[in-house]
Amino acid sequence: ADNTRIAVTPGDGIGPEVIGEAIHCLEALRAKHGLAVEWTRFPWPSHAWHEAHGESMPADALEQLRAYDAILLGALGDPGPVDDKDRYLLPDSISLAPLLDMRKGFDQWVCERPARLLPGARQYLADERARDIDMLVIRENSEGEYVSQGGRLRKGTSDEVATQMEVFTRKATDRIIRYGFEQARLRAAERVKEGRTRSFRTLDGRTCESQVCLITKRNALRHWGDMYTEAFEEISEEFPDVAIHHELVDAACMKFVQSPWAFDVVVASNLQGDILTDLAAVLSGGMGVAPSCNLNPTDPDVPSMFEPTHGSAPDIAGQGLADPTAMLFTTARMLEWLGRKDPALAAAGKELHDAVAADLAESGESQRGTQEIGAAIRRRISG
Ligand code: IPM
Ligand code: MN
Repeated sequence: ADNTRIAVTPGDGIGPEVIGEAIHCLEALRAKHGLAVEWTRFPWPSHAWHEAHGESMPADALEQLRAYDAILLGALGDPGPVDDKDRYLLPDSISLAPLLDMRKGFDQWVCERPARLLPGARQYLADERARDIDMLVIRENSEGEYVSQGGRLRKGTSDEVATQMEVFTRKATDRIIRYGFEQARLRAAERVKEGRTRSFRTLDGRTCESQVCLITKRNALRHWGDMYTEAFEEISEEFPDVAIHHELVDAACMKFVQSPWAFDVVVASNLQGDILTDLAAVLSGGMGVAPSCNLNPTDPDVPSMFEPTHGSAPDIAGQGLADPTAMLFTTARMLEWLGRKDPALAAAGKELHDAVAADLAESGESQRGTQEIGAAIRRRISG
């Protein structure tokens, strides 16, 4: 069979540094297990590329990437230097465009952001129950607030009006909610295997092994709120073994801080999921450890994209200070995903995940640099 092919896009800021560690780990795993996997680097630093070509990635970037089985992305965002009026030369909307273009172009309609407080990770909440935080936030990744429709009327006048449309389709709603329920089931099965059970109450007083919490703002944003609620109720009937729950997004923010250990799977819209996952990342140890993936579970012919939740952190770039843990957890998740075609990759993904988790448990938030952490994890792989 053909090799599994990964497109590596290091990106900006700390992206190339953390990607470097990911590649070293992939090399170690490939050497150890003879994995049938190969990768190609696409160094498209957005500021430099924009300066040279007038756009932050090649015009045919998506065509180039389409041929791969997965995209491993470091981080994007590089404002470049400031001009004589102190404005950054490259606004975020341009340097980050490739990220949104990839999600859209490959219809990566699921964004999965697990938030589990692993041993060794920094516990921001004082409550001891915080050690039990283990949720999966599933962000709708294809539409909603991110459709980028609208515009500015009477631009530059005192009567200017900006409109920003949100679009929610029933198809995208159904698929993300159903995906949430399926993940809840899989997580429960996984927990049972590991001998860690959890229990959640249904509205009629039964006990379930898993839960899906739907996030809306249906008390104010009625149209999509009602549609989300109806879809949720309908689909939940196919999953009587999964408890259902609903939170308004503002209350969810409060409860994420008050009692995050009470959540299992959380399904949220694109923007609300974006906001909640920064909060969830902090609850589970911070941006240095938070993995993320943008998945298209339905079309095997387009690549899914794997990038940590963190950004390009230009303030610490180039100094070898960035924690590669989030990138390596993300790489592990990519291998597990690719394992759908090649089970050896799934096993390698699990091995990498366990090595990263063991390193975190042993060293915690130590004062180690990027390469030192990467090397320690690699030793666990080869040792
Ligand atoms: C994320 C980021 C992006 C988003 C930005 C960089 C456009 O915040 O991946 O969470 O809003 O989706
Ligand atoms: Mn975000």
